[in-house]
Amino acid sequence: MILRMPLGLAAALSLLSLPFAARAEDGHQLWLRYPSAAVGRAGSAAISAPDTHNRPSLALAIAELQRGLPARARQGRFHLTTPADGSWPARYDGLGTDGFALSSRKLAGRTETRIAAKTDLGLLYGVFHYLRLAHSGADLGRLDLVSSPRIALRVLDHWDNLDGTVERGYAGASIWDWWRLPDWRDPIYTEYARANASVGINGAVLNNVNAKADSLTAPYIAKAAALADVFRPWGIKVYLSARWSAPIELGGLKTADPLDPAVAAWWRAKADEIYRAIPDFGGFLVKANSEGQPGPADYHRTHAQGANMLADALRPHGGVVMWRAFVYAHDNPEDRAKQAYNDFKPLDGQFADNVLVQVKNGAIDFQPREPFHPLFGAMPRTNLMMEFQITKEYLGQSTHLTYLGPLFSEALHADTLAQGKGSTVARVVDGSLDGHRLTGIAGVANIGANRDWSGSIFNQADWYAFGRLAWDPDLSPKAIAREWAAQTFSPAPKVVDAVTAIMMPSREVAVDYMTPLGLAHQMSVYGHYGPGPWVNTLARPEWNPVYYNRADAQGIGFDRTASGSNAIAQYAPAIAARLARPEATDEKDLLWFHHLPWTYRMRDGATLWDDLVRHYDRGVAGVESMQAQWQALKPAMDAERFEKTRVFLTIQRRDAQLWRDASIAYWQSLNHLPLPAGSAPPAHDLGWYKALSFPYAPGNP
Ligand code: GCU
Repeated sequence: MILRMPLGLAAALSLLSLPFAARAEDGHQLWLRYPSAAVGRAGSAAISAPDTHNRPSLALAIAELQRGLPARARQGRFHLTTPADGSWPARYDGLGTDGFALSSRKLAGRTETRIAAKTDLGLLYGVFHYLRLAHSGADLGRLDLVSSPRIALRVLDHWDNLDGTVERGYAGASIWDWWRLPDWRDPIYTEYARANASVGINGAVLNNVNAKADSLTAPYIAKAAALADVFRPWGIKVYLSARWSAPIELGGLKTADPLDPAVAAWWRAKADEIYRAIPDFGGFLVKANSEGQPGPADYHRTHAQGANMLADALRPHGGVVMWRAFVYAHDNPEDRAKQAYNDFKPLDGQFADNVLVQVKNGAIDFQPREPFHPLFGAMPRTNLMMEFQITKEYLGQSTHLTYLGPLFSEALHADTLAQGKGSTVARVVDGSLDGHRLTGIAGVANIGANRDWSGSIFNQADWYAFGRLAWDPDLSPKAIAREWAAQTFSPAPKVVDAVTAIMMPSREVAVDYMTPLGLAHQMSVYGHYGPGPWVNTLARPEWNPVYYNRADAQGIGFDRTASGSNAIAQYAPAIAARLARPEATDEKDLLWFHHLPWTYRMRDGATLWDDLVRHYDRGVAGVESMQAQWQALKPAMDAERFEKTRVFLTIQRRDAQLWRDASIAYWQSLNHLPLPAGSAPPAHDLGWYKALSFPYAPGNP
């Protein structure tokens, strides 16, 4: 059937489709701008597709294609097909669920394009991919590609509170209007789902991991159900963070002991209630016995016993439990970096098959750089999922331009050596290393009610990159930056090259001015924004920067070798052997694993101190270079987005200087060493930096 968009269907689809942003280039359209100059205005394209009756995802796919087709592709013919619709090419039989195939050829001067998938959602993903290519300047006349997601659950975790605030959110209030839900379904929910679907994200945990039990009450289940209804045609399931003690708080039980039959029965009934409202509910995310949250350990039960009890409640409905391994205890004197491994590794093989243990990329907490978490590769009989932080709690939040693609990719490509060379974290997470079918990856969302969604134009790239890497962890962060830049700004090679050149080194630049050479957690008490390497007053030892830098008159760094906490023993023996020796340790991770004298000789012959200072200098210079490169792009940019980014880079330049100067002033107060030749002294004395306070920094819990 050839659809020239019959009027009825066009009207129906226009209800589903979205209004274009009222204001021009405020970033609200994300990477889905389909610039009007490039979109053919005359008539609709020829799309042959099955009947859309009762197939909402298919209807969305057709509407999106009509909406996004650039002029150069409008004269072609498009065929959308699934096996159920006949004419299925056998060569696509191997496509994964929700994967797609794109092919095109010229026939009598017209381009014929086929988008094939096993599911309607796969067709929608295929359309989005076609449009991505179309708006990145690709040759659309000779396509021949197949693509299937490597990871099954590709989820955004929203740390959104019921009062509308967002923990570690830097883009304004929560987009969930809990108060007016379920009645008012704000159009932003559709826009949100569409943006996620465009990069293959298929799940959303709606509420903060520091959860309130209220999210599990009937009124809030109804609100979550309304969101689920909006998200469903876009292929997005909703999940909820579950508060462990809900059976006590809501159910009036005396205990939340997972082995108590009344507790298990309460959760079963709760799961049944949720599935009555949301038949495709994804499941629960749980933060238990971590940072003050209740959990099974309160009853001397293990994480596995806790997770499995919830898993039993969800299993009849096909739901999963995402159980977080972000666990450490203030009364445990063990190195914080070791605690999750110590707690979870012995439980390998004990988790139910519908449980995923969700592990942060590093063993501390989303630092600008962390070595990969030693649990990856250490729990072969457990479904391990990755947790990244897209919101940049420790990386300059909404103002600093620090593209996270390289950070995500570095973690995914780290080699655990668990089964010899090539046992990458990506292969643990995609299940191929140990033969797991239930696989997942989560990103803590950077989305809020700001017009530009993420607090800055460039932060949108981190949301985008998360989705693309969740689909295929082997995509290069540079290729992702290029396609994002092309769609977000312009496919002109000059623009793409220049924007990518700014993005690619930007994370390393931030590492340089914040926490070079493996330092970590040096952020101030004010919302983890500015520098505070001297801070030693926070309630728990491992919340203090001094816990991590261990700096004194003689040296700096955390000894995690056998003479220290021996955290290196949590890695595969070959890795541990390398990390045992500072000269064999990657200098990027040096002070993460070693406590060294200030006079230690680096590979290039400089002392550790001189090298450290040079890194800070390089970080500041790196921001200056980003500023210059952005300025050069002015003629190619719209005024609105140019100016916002220009001002943010000015803030970043100021902050980079602050980080450098405050850090150097503190280290010098301990080591009394002169600065290397050519390095300027800090602008102020240490007392000045210590006196800075930012009590209302956003995103605090
Ligand atoms: C970090 C963050 C907290 C958050 C926690 C978590 O520590 O600062 O706000 O609750 O991670 O991941 O649970």
